[in-house]
Order: sequence, then C-alpha cells, then structure tokens
Amino acid sequence: MSTRPVTTTDAGIPAPSDEHSQSIGPNGPLLLQDHYLIQKMAHFNRERVPERVVHAKGGGAHGILQITEDVSQYTKASLFTKGKETPLFLRFSSVAGELGSPDTQRDPRGFALKFYTDHGNYDIVGNNTPIFFIRDPQKFSDFIHSQKRRADNNLRDHNMQWDFWTLSPETAHQVTFLMTDRGTPASWRHMHGFGSHTFLWYNAGGEKFWVKYHFKTDQGIKNFTDAEAGAVIAQDADYHIRDLYDAIKAGDHPSWTVNVQIMPFEDAADYRFNPFDLTKVWPHADYPEITIGRFVLNRNPENYFAEVEQSGFEPANLVPGIGPSPDKMLQGRLFSYPDAHRYRIGANYQQLPINAPKVPVHSYNKDGQMRFANPADPVYAPNTVGGPAADPALYAGEDYHVAGEIIRSAYTLHREDDDFVQPRALWENVLSDTDRAHLVSNVVGHASAPEVTAEMKKRVVEYWTNIHKDLGQGVAQGLGIAAD
Ligand code: NDP
Ligand code: HEM
Repeated sequence: MSTRPVTTTDAGIPAPSDEHSQSIGPNGPLLLQDHYLIQKMAHFNRERVPERVVHAKGGGAHGILQITEDVSQYTKASLFTKGKETPLFLRFSSVAGELGSPDTQRDPRGFALKFYTDHGNYDIVGNNTPIFFIRDPQKFSDFIHSQKRRADNNLRDHNMQWDFWTLSPETAHQVTFLMTDRGTPASWRHMHGFGSHTFLWYNAGGEKFWVKYHFKTDQGIKNFTDAEAGAVIAQDADYHIRDLYDAIKAGDHPSWTVNVQIMPFEDAADYRFNPFDLTKVWPHADYPEITIGRFVLNRNPENYFAEVEQSGFEPANLVPGIGPSPDKMLQGRLFSYPDAHRYRIGANYQQLPINAPKVPVHSYNKDGQMRFANPADPVYAPNTVGGPAADPALYAGEDYHVAGEIIRSAYTLHREDDDFVQPRALWENVLSDTDRAHLVSNVVGHASAPEVTAEMKKRVVEYWTNIHKDLGQGVAQGLGIAAD
C-alpha cells in the first residue's frame, strides 16, 4: 500500500484526480461542478501579493543575537542585556529592481533585522551604508521614481537619475558610496549593515543617549568590480540569494559584530554636524565604535513566500529602552512601513508567523480580514473586569523636551554641515588609489548611458567637482568634456 498522503482540496476533502478535469465524455466540454478544478485555477490567480514598492528582490535567514558586553548604563532594552540571546530574522534586498531583477546590479542593499525580544519585536530596518540620499521624507517618492521606470517607455533612465541627484546636493555622500565598488557587493555575507538613523537609548535611571548601529561583517568586505557584477548578471540573476542559501546549507554560517556609537544626549545640540541628518556619519574620532555583541545566521527559511515575502519590517517597532530620534527620515518611516504592510499583506500582517512576536499579545485590536487569533472579552479599555493594562513605567525615561514654531524648513545648520565635506573625507582619507580609480570609472560608465544628455554630463562633472577637484577632473576626462 502507498505511504503517500492523499491529495485534498483546501477544505481537506480527498481530491478526485491530480490529472483529469471532469468532462462530458472523454472528448466533451468541462463541468462547472468540478469544484476541485475551479478551486485550483482560482487560487492560482491569487498567488501573488503586491511586490514591495522598493526593496522587492531579496532573501533572508534566521539567526541569533548574542550580547557580550554590559550596556545597561546606556539602555534598559532587555534584548541588550549582557549574555542575552535573542532569535532574529534578517532580510537582505536590492532597492530599485523588481521581484525578478538581477541581484548584482549597482544599488544600495537593504539590511532589515527583526529581533523577537521578550518585549515584542524590535526591527532595525537598515541598509549596507551608514547614510542615505535625502534628509526629508517629502522627497522619498520623487527620489524612488527617478530610480525606477519612465512613464513613456517604462525604461530605467540614467538621465532622470542624474537630474534628481544633481538637483539634490544632499545626495552626494550616498551617491559616492554607491558609485564605489561597495555599490556592487560580491555577496550579502560580505557587506556591513547599518541602522543608519540615530536612535534614542535610555537607561533604567532615565539617562538618555543617542546611538548609531554598525553591523560589521565577520567575513570581511568583498565587492565586485562593475564589470564582474555585470558578468554575473548574465549568468545568474539570483546570485546573492543562492550564495546565502548555499552557505548556510553547507554549515558556513555568516556572522556580524554588533557595534554602536554612543553620543551623550546633550552633545546633540552643538555637535559639529547635525547628528540627526541621515546624509552624515558621526566620525569615529568623535564617537568611536563600541562592540556590544554578535549575531549569526544559522537557519535558512523553509518556505520563501511565508518567511521572506510575507516578512514585514517596521522602524516603528521599538521596545522599552529604545526610542526614535528627531531624524525627519526616521519620523516619516515610522508611518510608512506599517501602512505599506496593511496594503501589501493585509491588516492583520502581524499575525503572519514570520511577523508574529514570540511573546503573548494582549492587544485590544480585533477582527479584520484574515484574523485568526482574537482577544477575548473585555474588548475595550479601561475596564473593571481584569483586562490587560499598560505599564507606563516600562517607558520611564523616554520623555524629553522639544518646543518650536510649526514651520517647513531645512534643518538648522551645525558648524561643519555641508553636503560635500563627508564625501570629500571619504575620497581624501579613506579610499585607496584603486577605489578612487573605480569610483571615477563607475561614474563615467553610468553617466555615459546613451540617454544622458550633453547638458546633464556638465552637471554631473560639476556635482563631482564639488566633492573634490581631482574627482571632477577624472569624471570630466572620462566623459570627454572640460572641467571648470
Ligand atoms: P575613519 O577613518 O575612522 O573611518 C572610515 C570608515 O570608512 C571606516 O568605518 C571604514 O570601515 C570605512 N571604509 C573603508 N573603506 C571604505 C570604502 N571603500 N567605502 C566606504 N567606507 C569605507 O574616518 P571617519 O569616521 O572620520 O569617516 C571618514 C569618512 O569615512 C566619512 O566621511 C564617511 O564617508 C566614511 N565612513 C564613515 C563611517 C562612520 O560611521 N564614521 C562609516 C563608514 C564610512 P570599513 O572598511 O570596515 O567599512
Ligand atoms: C522597504 C519606504 C527610507 C530601508 C521600504 C518599503 C517602503 C519604504 C514603503 C516597502 C515595505 C514593504 O512593502 O514591506 C521608505 C520611506 C523612506 C525610506 C518612505 C524615507 C522617508 C529608507 C531608509 C532605509 C530604508 C533610510 C535604510 C536606512 C529599507 C529596507 C526595506 C525598505 C531595508 C526592505 C525591508 C524588507 O526587507 O522587507 N521602504 N523607506 N528605507 N526600506 Fe525604506
């Protein structure tokens, strides 16, 4: 007797056949009463959820965070207790390409972490760069539109990209990173991750600090050159997903060292750079990195759709001991992600197993499409019948004073704020001669696309000259035009 299970309908009823639809005679028309056939076809039509509007293509894995140092003087967040181990899920992604786009195209890479803590889920939704292209969420959809496809021919367009970048000088730092070989990482295992934003930490005594996260790859940085990345596209569009999956399957578990930079709360007001400006790093000379732990990815997803596609990360998932900073981009993102998930994977997306916390949920939210775990009575608060009650003491220490006019304005400039000073430091002090040569040739290659106009090329040269004269000259030479 066969040990194979019997195929069923989604209602668990034994299926009539794996091969044959019900028809009138072997050669006649099909019957509407063949519910099994109808169910298969109808369900197939509904297999896709909308892809993420950005970061559509990605892969992920499960792992463990281990905290090795005592940081209780900075934060009371329970996941950062010395010795604590917390399960996590990490999704890597590219940004601009669609779900089937090649993994090795030049792009920043997403580095989204979900920690299943004993105070619920804490998400750090970062990138492989410590900075971003813009500093106000007002410009995010415009920026992304310039990276995606034109309205007329549905093609990506480098002229459109340079138009946005050259009109938005705050992009200079991130575009410099992007155009180095770090814009084409050899694998997700060989890149750093960054929380990028500044976050608030507060300790049990109510003292506050600003913090930045750096996740340093223990595998070492490894990048492709532009030509190597292009060659991989021709061979394997899923190169990065495959690399991560195969490494973990072979027991070669990648890990990252968890570092933080800590700024005393009061330093922010007159620090030489605006510490909340997402286009800036905090130079290490001012705020050195401190190691607090390490995480390892040790388990592949068993089901890509259920674990990777249905994962939903949100910068608003913050736990006691951690809060947002006034970074305007972070503030915008606090709204954007849960809104995106309600649209993409449904109002009850937090009940999907990959997003569900590993602690009991005692929320008064109820009902809605596809909800399967509902609160019992009482369904309202406050109540006198023993329902859950908030414990504000958990958040003691998060409050701070802010006052001002309601206005629309750029950030107030700090002493050394300037869009070019930090990319200039990268060019002058950090990049090797080879890195510099590749930066120039990568920019030249990108701006040599046939759609980039002669007028735009001049603006491109001006953009790079603002960062450094030599860089501008190199780009001008490569594009065959004179630098001023
Ligand atoms: P440091 O010399 O102390 O730090 C330079 C940083 O650059 C290191 O984190 C280094 O770490 C990283 N780096 C090295 N090579 C590259 C590369 N090819 N592309 C990007 N990053 C690289 O100087 P500062 O802290 O004063 O920063 C100087 C400049 O370095 C900044 O303006 C910024 O552009 C860049 N940078 C700074 C970071 C920070 O948080 N302070 C983080 C990353 C870059 P690693 O090689 O391990 O990445
Ligand atoms: C994904 C919005 C800036 C990192 C997304 C998604 C949206 C979005 C709507 C899709 C979410 C989904 O459908 O699951 C925004 C807005 C931003 C912004 C409005 C600025 C105002 C940033 C920044 C970073 C970042 C600064 C990194 C520092 C990511 C990552 C993902 C993502 C990693 C993919 C998460 C995943 O793997 O599921 N963003 N984003 N974004 N964003 Fe942003």
